[in-house]
Amino acid sequence: MEKTKVGVLGATGAVGQRFIQLLEGHPYFDVTELAASERSAGKPYREAVEGRWKLSADIPEYAREMVVKGCKADLDCELVFGALDSSVAGPIETAFAEAGYFVVSNSKNHRFDEDVPLMSAEVNPEHLKLLERQKTRGKIVTNSNCTIMGVTITLKPLLDKFGLEGVMLFSMQAISGAGYPGVPSMDIQGNVIPFIGGEEEKCEIEPLKVLGKLGEKGIENAPFKISSHCNRVPVYDGHTVCVSVKLKEKASVEEFKKAMAEFKGEPQKLKLPSAPERPIIVREEPDRPQPRLDLMEGKGMATTVGRVREDPLMDFKYVTLSHNTIRGAAGAAVLNAELMKARGLI
Ligand SMILES: NC(=O)c1ccc[n+]([C@@H]2O[C@H](COP(=O)([O-])OP(=O)(O)OC[C@H]3O[C@@H](n4cnc5c(N)ncnc54)[C@H](OP(=O)(O)O)[C@@H]3O)[C@@H](O)[C@H]2O)c1
Repeated sequence: MEKTKVGVLGATGAVGQRFIQLLEGHPYFDVTELAASERSAGKPYREAVEGRWKLSADIPEYAREMVVKGCKADLDCELVFGALDSSVAGPIETAFAEAGYFVVSNSKNHRFDEDVPLMSAEVNPEHLKLLERQKTRGKIVTNSNCTIMGVTITLKPLLDKFGLEGVMLFSMQAISGAGYPGVPSMDIQGNVIPFIGGEEEKCEIEPLKVLGKLGEKGIENAPFKISSHCNRVPVYDGHTVCVSVKLKEKASVEEFKKAMAEFKGEPQKLKLPSAPERPIIVREEPDRPQPRLDLMEGKGMATTVGRVREDPLMDFKYVTLSHNTIRGAAGAAVLNAELMKARGLI
């Protein structure tokens, strides 16, 4: 398979750095361009991220001397991965799509455009059909918010097998979810912040589009309601979410767990390079999942579920953990692009 030339917009940020790491030696993609703000433009990548490279492994060799450019739609690539601050992402991504680039974005700006798929490769690969409705030469595909990415994957087999009537979420979100430098250390050390601007609204609406059906007129949202509480906690990486669900049909605890543990999607069938063998790992220990122990399951692409039990108010409750900058951002975008490549769309 011939490799596709790709660029990373917002290459210097928390999600951008993950892209740089995950795309090293990728079998489908060759990183030919890095772009960020005018503050970084003109510098070699290693200099642009000096003092703010936050991943435990070093900057990959291939990227160190690449010169960062501004986000103008004249880059030497076919596809751009988007990791831009949402205050600027909207018009930049539109400009790239108009200029003929595929844009695979993590930012919120285009998630609810009617002709833009809000993708989770295992959950709604059929939503890629929406691309045919986009009038631009290039096309935009988006990822959902990092908090609900793993949760939505767990809801998919439940919706398909038992139906869903309602979902309650309580999140404990890592500080890297706010980008760098993010929340001041004096605010988050030894503390919990029970407010993340705009997050609860995203958690209550985005899963409904991701889990929605592709109809004649576009996506028909999944027909249930979600209530969410979002909290920032002093964990570096990994969003933990306590979930309670009300089902349409009765299920036993064993059937409930089996539905999640056996779930596989198109990325697994196609054996895409970033697809975890199992999208959902169900653990039996009473004190798991924990960010420190379970975060890197499936190279950060699996969602770990634990504490599955009956709920006296809803039907069942459980805990999910997923990596916010891998499964919740860069890794999910790379998987979406792999799916597009495998389907011959790029
Ligand atoms: N962090 C997560 O876990 C996570 C998860 C899912 C989705 N997201 C979304 O992904 C996007 C990136 O998040 P992040 O956490 O990586 O943020 P971040 O660390 O603040 O990085 C933001 C990036 O945007 C660039 N940028 C800022 N202003 C710009 C401008 N005027 N023109 C061009 N580039 C500009 C920055 O470049 P400079 O370095 O040059 O300033 C940097 O590369 C956001 O939309 C966020 O909501 C984040």
